[in-house]
Parts: sequence; C-alpha cells; structure tokens
Amino acid sequence: MQEVKWLKQGAEAQLYVDEYLGQPCLVKDRQPKTYRVKELDEKIRRERTKQECILLHRAKLAGVRTPLVFKVDRQGKRVFMEFVEGPRLKDALTAKNTGWCERLGKMAGKLHAAGIVHGDLTTSNVLLHNKAELVLLDFGLGYFSKRVEDQAVDLLVFKKTFEATHFDLPQGWKAVCQGYAEACGQGAAERVFRQMEEIGERARYH
Ligand SMILES: Nc1ncnc2c1ncn2[C@@H]1O[C@H](COP(=O)(O)OP(=O)(O)O)[C@@H](O)[C@H]1O
Ligand SMILES: [Mg+2]
Repeated sequence: MQEVKWLKQGAEAQLYVDEYLGQPCLVKDRQPKTYRVKELDEKIRRERTKQECILLHRAKLAGVRTPLVFKVDRQGKRVFMEFVEGPRLKDALTAKNTGWCERLGKMAGKLHAAGIVHGDLTTSNVLLHNKAELVLLDFGLGYFSKRVEDQAVDLLVFKKTFEATHFDLPQGWKAVCQGYAEACGQGAAERVFRQMEEIGERARYH
C-alpha cells in the first residue's frame, strides 16, 4: 500500500493521491463546513458528490474526456477517481500551443449541446494529459440545463477568467468560440453569444 500523498486544498475539498486496485487514484474529499448546520452540511456534501459523479459520467457520454470515477465512499462524500497525469492547461497554455484553445471551446460546446452546464469553466479545471488530450475536471458546481441563459452565464464566466489569465493570447478566446460553434452548431452558438452580450449590457446599466 503506497503512502497517501496530499495533493492540495481545493475550493471546497481536499485532494489527495491514494491507491485503488493497485493503481494510483485521486481522492476528492469534501470537508465539513462548520458554519453550516451539521445535518444540512452532510446532505449538501452528499448531494454535490453524487451530482459531480453523474456529471463526470454524462460529460463522457457527450464526448468530453473526464476522469473515470472508481468509487464513492459509503457516506457519499469522497470520490475515488482516476489520477490524470499532466499539468493544468492554465500553466501549459502558451503562444506556441494555442491550438488547444479550439479544443477547449469544443469541450464547452459538446457539454452545452448535451444539456450540461459546467459551472466553473476555467483552464485550472482542465488538465493536459500526455501533451495529447484535454481532460475536464471539477463538476462540483455543474447542473443539467439547456437554457440559453444558463449556457451564456457559463461561457461568460469562462471568458472573464480566460481573458484575465491568458491576456498574453489575444486570439485565444476567439479560437475558443470557434471550437464552441463547431461543437454545438453555428445557430446555437450565435444565440449563446448574443445572450452573453445582453448579459454584459445588463451588467453595465444596472
Ligand atoms: N483526477 C485528477 N487527476 C489529477 N489531478 C486532479 C484530479 N482532480 C483534481 N486534480 C487537481 O486538483 C485540483 C483541484 O481539484 P478540483 O476538482 O478542481 O477541486 P475544487 O472543487 O476544490 O476546485 C485541480 O485543479 C487539479 O490540479
Ligand atoms: Mg477546481
């Protein structure tokens, strides 16, 4: 049995490396929030964990690579999943490999076409595996919806963090949008882009 290796403290969970059937696996362990009533806290953590596993699987069915879920512990608050080797796209994306931007957009487009809203699309939640494929993580804030408004908010949050993080890739976001439209169709993409502009306008005048 290998030693459990602590990986990092995420926004809502601790992540560490353990072993599953002799293979390294990643454990996402949602920690109690002491400011919440205990029973409610347990219910929220269980629900989020369950929802995350369902979404990881459904994303896969939509053609988006996600870590394989091995098991969920009995209390339902820890997920054991495939440990994906590779850097976060946030750290790996440079002016030399902007081709990934289009692939990134395709991921988002496939999710939306399948009625999945990720809820936290950022390049911190994408790993570049073997320098060959993108793996999307962290569906902790995700949900099912086909509403244009929900898709537009999802993409707008993505745009804001993308432009702030990758300000040195001025053509990057354009490529993301191209990939997005390719995956979900020009018509659907235009509707989402228009809605994003409208949300931007609303934010400016209120
Ligand atoms: N399956 C995995 N394989 C390898 N690293 C992972 C995996 N899942 C998460 N990580 C690492 O842990 C970090 C936090 O995980 P994440 O699921 O995004 O948790 P949080 O909800 O706390 O942000 C990721 O940015 C990534 O670096
Ligand atoms: Mg995350």
